Amino acid sequence: MSMSQVGRHKASRKGIVLAGGSGSRLHPLTLGVSKQLLPVFDKPLIYYPIATLIMSGVREVLFITTPDDASAFKRLLGDGSQWGMDFNYAVQDKPRGLADAYRIGRAFLDGAPSVLILGDNIFFGHGLKSLLERAAGNSGATIFTSLVRDPTRFGVVELDSNQRPVSIEEKPEKPRSRWAATGLYFLDHKACDFADEVLPSKRGEIEIISILQRYLDDGNLNVETLHRGFAWLDAGTHESLHQAGEFVKTLQDRQGLLVSSPEELAFRHGLIDVDQLSALAESQKQSSYGEALMELVNQVHQYG
Ligand code: G1P
Repeated sequence: MSMSQVGRHKASRKGIVLAGGSGSRLHPLTLGVSKQLLPVFDKPLIYYPIATLIMSGVREVLFITTPDDASAFKRLLGDGSQWGMDFNYAVQDKPRGLADAYRIGRAFLDGAPSVLILGDNIFFGHGLKSLLERAAGNSGATIFTSLVRDPTRFGVVELDSNQRPVSIEEKPEKPRSRWAATGLYFLDHKACDFADEVLPSKRGEIEIISILQRYLDDGNLNVETLHRGFAWLDAGTHESLHQAGEFVKTLQDRQGLLVSSPEELAFRHGLIDVDQLSALAESQKQSSYGEALMELVNQVHQYG
């Protein structure tokens, strides 16, 4: 190892949440409110991708929203310090595709590796945290795939018998597998340069798949498969939004544990202490969500 490599600090991985779009598949719900601020049972949809980022070890996050919705996101999430995080905001005046996040986010990332997550993607499952931590430690790119019924609606990954990616295609008419690329991407510092080179696709967007293709060509695309026992939900239609809420409600009622609570995760990851958690619970105590946080505080006091 050369002296310059020894001396160079590894930049921390930063998060980007893409929360733009018109939410047209959710009209009229999204005529007045951004999709990512709609409720999934007891918390706004955007809390779920934030929870995934906290579990991935990310502390600095850039939220990309529409110009109209920016103030509502800031009102809800602030500067992130309440959860021991650092939140930043940027706007996208119209949806140009997922790869645009790396053009908008270049200055924010400032050469750091990143995690891009779509603002309507919910990940849940036992062992998720270790999968995320592993991805965060990888070089190159890491994506997560999940089996879907209708792969034509997604980016589709073809895997060989060793689970290595062979091809990746955006919304193929004739899919080569049922493995969809989920809306969660761990990319290294090269992503911004790759994004600059992407040309618009047939649907007129600059596709994340084009960036991933570059990593695949270089032999640097890792794929983690989310098998049975993992839930990957998006909340892009009335049906899927309702299902996501039911799913969260059922799990929380049964286990008495919160699903994807940023407050709880910030506490468990040492970003805030029990007094800060208690203050967050207190300020929301009139809701069942605040009550659940207060219960958590009581358990910490009782059992440590
Ligand atoms: C986007 C990506 C696609 C990915 C999907 C996951 O699709 O382009 O590769 O499978 O998110 O939700 P879009 O939501 O833009 O149709």
